[in-house]
Amino acid sequence: MTHQLVPAAPVPQVSRRGVLQATGLAAVATIVAGCGSTGDASGPAATSSTGAGGQALVEVAQVPVGGGVVLDEPAIVVTQPADGTVKAFTAICPHQGCLVSEVVDGEILCPCHGSAFSIVDGSVIQGPAQEGLAAEPIAVRDGTVTLA
Ligand code: FES
Repeated sequence: MTHQLVPAAPVPQVSRRGVLQATGLAAVATIVAGCGSTGDASGPAATSSTGAGGQALVEVAQVPVGGGVVLDEPAIVVTQPADGTVKAFTAICPHQGCLVSEVVDGEILCPCHGSAFSIVDGSVIQGPAQEGLAAEPIAVRDGTVTLA
C-alpha cells in the first residue's frame, strides 16, 4: 500500500508575479522612452546607472519642456522643467524599487503604488514614497545630455 498522492510543493506565486510585473515595467519604460523621441532614441551601449561619466543619455530636443523622458538603461529620468534647464534623477522609486513609468503634468509617476515626484528636484509630491528621487549628475554637451 503506497500513498503517492503527495501534493506538490507550493509554487511561489507572489515571486513569479513580481518578476512578471518587473518585466512589464521595464517594457513600459522602454516604450515611454521611445514615445518621447522624434528620431533615433536608441539607448547607449553602456549599462551602469552611475559612474559612467560621459555616457550619452538623450538629446535635449527629445525631452519635452515641462516634462521628461524615462530611460530604462540606465534607469534615469531626464526632465526639462523650464526651457534649457535639464535635470536627471534615478528612475528607481525609493518606495519599493519599481521603475517610474512616465512623466505627466510636471510629475514623475511610479505605477506600483502611485507615488509622484517633482520634475524640478525629484521631491515627493505624493506618497507612499517617503524620499524623493535622487539626482543624477549630468552635463549637456552639443545638445546631448550625458552623465557627468
Ligand atoms: Fe513606487 Fe511603491 S514602488 S510607489
